[in-house]
Amino acid sequence: MKKMTIAVVSSTLLAAAAWAAHGLAQEPPAAGAANVPQPLALSTGAQAQLIEQGRYLATAADCIACHTAKGGKPYAGGVGIASPIGTIYSPNITPDKATGIGGYSFEAFDRAVRRGIAKDGSTLYPAMPFVSYAKMPPSDVKALYAYLMQDVAPVEQQNKATDIPWPLSMRWPLRFWRMAFAPDVVSDVAPGAADGVVARGRYLVEGPAHCGTCHTPRGLGLQEKALTDDSRLFLSGGVVDGYLAKNLRGDRKDGLGEWTPEQIVAFLRSGRNAHAAAFGGMAEVVGRSTQNMSDADLAAIAAYLKTLSPAHADGSALAADPAATQKLRAGTDRSNGALTFVDNCAACHRTSGSGYESTFPTLALGSVVNSDDPTSLIHIVLEGGRMPWTKAAPAQFGMPGFAERLTDRDIADVLTFVRSSWGNRAPAVSASEVAKVRKAVRAAPQPTRPENG
Ligand code: HEC
Ligand code: HEC
Ligand code: HEC
Repeated sequence: MKKMTIAVVSSTLLAAAAWAAHGLAQEPPAAGAANVPQPLALSTGAQAQLIEQGRYLATAADCIACHTAKGGKPYAGGVGIASPIGTIYSPNITPDKATGIGGYSFEAFDRAVRRGIAKDGSTLYPAMPFVSYAKMPPSDVKALYAYLMQDVAPVEQQNKATDIPWPLSMRWPLRFWRMAFAPDVVSDVAPGAADGVVARGRYLVEGPAHCGTCHTPRGLGLQEKALTDDSRLFLSGGVVDGYLAKNLRGDRKDGLGEWTPEQIVAFLRSGRNAHAAAFGGMAEVVGRSTQNMSDADLAAIAAYLKTLSPAHADGSALAADPAATQKLRAGTDRSNGALTFVDNCAACHRTSGSGYESTFPTLALGSVVNSDDPTSLIHIVLEGGRMPWTKAAPAQFGMPGFAERLTDRDIADVLTFVRSSWGNRAPAVSASEVAKVRKAVRAAPQPTRPENG
């Protein structure tokens, strides 16, 4: 099951329920003639071009990620997305008339994708990232529509109802969430090359590529706290699926301040670079989506990300410090953290912490290691990871999971050691934080040793 925190909580639902009248809570169904799919009137060449544009946008927007079940047919839906109130299953968006979106007019499709309103007028759960797709102009949505309706094979597969219990399963309060948090849809054309790379990058990041869905922190209503770079909270880091989708802003310690645009492009294209390797949800994003984006678009994303100011006030960079390496090599650091590191990690990440570029990522001065929130670090040590397979780097180096080998105390100690060695500067990790992540990601229980009683 794909676990994703979605933007709805019972408090919002109850608050809305307290004052809402049912009649207010539903949009009218997509109307009359507009409800019948109509071929867009275009020449064959223009039509083929539109479909290609749509295929590319569907890749950039990663529609397939949420709408294709493991082992299922492309776009036939059925992916379970966990939310605090129950599981939501993504629907079939193949052009099948009976069970998919074959009966959707362009207007009905557009309303679903950009405004989160289903064909019958009810509101979609914001597990569908319509708040980002609202930034796509109608011309791009037309291309998506042409691609899905004409190039994707229809699959007959009934949609699965949510597991959300009544009364939370009532959809009408979602309309109030939408009214409070969804932005207006845009009406102009998408920025292209002529508008400059930064404008193009902003469009891709805020719109189709929906980077903020994971990388922006969420508020009490589980809404993204910012949808544009007007706020420093935008892309300042969010937790998704038990990983920290980290700060992508200009911070030198835990953001992308030390990454060159070329290094950002290399990461998005190959899933690795001199600073890091993609893991968790990002490995899937790179594998399915960004590696297939054009060089120009990846360069635009990188140029845009480099314009983002730091999220935090502490602007200083990290400075390398050889003390930890020297002590490990001399065998003079007898702390549990250092010994656990030597026994379990140094074979790949080396006593210098610097690993081997593009093979075993560096733990020295890396922005993941130096993020305040240690969720990603605990998670990857518990469960291990595997780099994405990419055309640019067709080798998937992996890291084993240590859930069954190391206790919560060992993992806390080794990560505290890593976060304070080689020049790293991040808070200590406690055994209770490890225990919490172990439980949340359903990793194996810690091994029993005499010292844990
Ligand atoms: C992060 C996951 C996610 C991504 C990415 C995503 N969707 Fe969805 N989508 C969903 C979920 C979940 C629903 C159902 C929500 C509900 O039941 O309220 C949905 C609903 C829809 C619907 C409404 C279908 C209906 O039966 O009314 C359409 C159309 C749709 N998505 C198209 C797209 C397209 C096109 C893309 C890419 C541009 C896309 N989705 C990307 C999760 C996603
Ligand atoms: C489905 C959730 C998701 C989406 C969507 C997503 N990311 Fe990520 N991203 C993550 C997670 C989780 C991590 C942390 C794991 C890692 O560092 O590889 C991450 C890490 C990264 C990193 C590594 C940063 C570092 O310092 O090591 C970069 C760069 C990045 N994402 C860029 C992007 C961009 C650009 C987009 C939009 C095109 C994007 N991400 C969309 C989940 C996501
Ligand atoms: C067999 C080699 C190997 C061993 C042993 C190993 N790792 Fe890793 N480590 C990797 C690889 C490969 C990755 C990249 C995984 C991915 O991208 O999914 C990685 C990624 C990481 C990351 C994320 C780094 C980043 O910025 O992207 C951290 C943190 C980490 N390892 C810590 C540890 C710790 C702590 C230990 C010991 C308890 C350890 N590793 C043992 C190979 C190893």
